Amino acid sequence: DEAALLEQFDATLAADHRIEPRDWMPEGYRKTLIRQVAQHAHSEIIGMQPEGDWLLAAPSLRRKSVLLAKVQDEAGHGMYLYSAAETLGADRADLTDKLVEQKQKYSSIFNYPTLSYADVGVIGWLVDGAAICNQVPLCRSSYGPYARAMIRICKEESFHQRQGYELLMTMMRGTDEQRAMVQDAVDRWWWPTLMMFGPPDEHSPNTAQSMAWGIKRHTNDELRQKFVDMSVPQAEVLGVTFPDPELEFDPETGHYRFGKLDWEEFKRVVGGQGPMNAIRLARRRAARDDNAWVTEAATAYARKHEGAVA
Ligand code: 3HC
Repeated sequence: DEAALLEQFDATLAADHRIEPRDWMPEGYRKTLIRQVAQHAHSEIIGMQPEGDWLLAAPSLRRKSVLLAKVQDEAGHGMYLYSAAETLGADRADLTDKLVEQKQKYSSIFNYPTLSYADVGVIGWLVDGAAICNQVPLCRSSYGPYARAMIRICKEESFHQRQGYELLMTMMRGTDEQRAMVQDAVDRWWWPTLMMFGPPDEHSPNTAQSMAWGIKRHTNDELRQKFVDMSVPQAEVLGVTFPDPELEFDPETGHYRFGKLDWEEFKRVVGGQGPMNAIRLARRRAARDDNAWVTEAATAYARKHEGAVA
């Protein structure tokens, strides 16, 4: 009966074991996982666009091939995560429709424009750095397929961050114009990157339950703070500053204090009014509609040859 099943579910979580697709789980657990995993997948796929814009304008063949590898990785991350969502009974075509119809979200960070090539380096360093901060704990998420997808994704993410930081180091050893380009990109991406971690804990409707279910292992503010603490020394080595006059080390707490985030901007961007939301969704809709014939052909072929595969 349900009470015994719930007891078994709770015992699995208490023992820090993993819930697997065939295990019984509370409907709310399944629902919130599909919500988070699907939106994580949407973020990876939409996240291909900002840097994708620089593929044809990369300054060298090496930079172009590294960037191409990263953008392709993001597509793969999306695929792992849509596959993890499918183990929960979701359907990826349906999830894509929900994304395009704005019934599901994707990370706010991808709604900002990539105005110069330095943005490619800053996205690698800061955005993928923030993603690592957020995704490493998810490797211990209580849902098996999600945690295992994260392990593979985090390995690739560290390459993404390193190539971005190395790109910026090269530019910082260049001309004054290049140094100014890097600082301008840092100024534009710093605050939106802090918003990636989600609303403040006291305004996070999902955190408490997600922590109780072991889906999340840290709160939004804990991970945001960890990211600020790790980024300040990296900025110093790079020779750039963050656009926050209140950023200061607090010897009492051992953490950096930082200024207030603009949660009105966050709400606008998450609500679809960011600088690039319309373009990002229009491109995703076009990719779905223009390539529908490929999906139909592949599905028809598979059906015709069902069972024929040795
Ligand atoms: N952008 C858009 N929506 C956001 C958001 C953001 N930065 N932060 C929070 N939200 C949404 C939440 O989805 C939730 O809405 P919903 O209930 O409709 O889903 C609402 O705001 C309230 O936020 P909560 O804190 O209550 O929600 P969560 O507990 O789900 O926490 C989260 C939000 C921290 C993003 C969590 O969902 C999470 O850890 N997700 C997995 C990681 C992820 O999605 N990262 C996004 C970036 S992917 C990426 O960086 C790719 C890399 O390769 C560059």
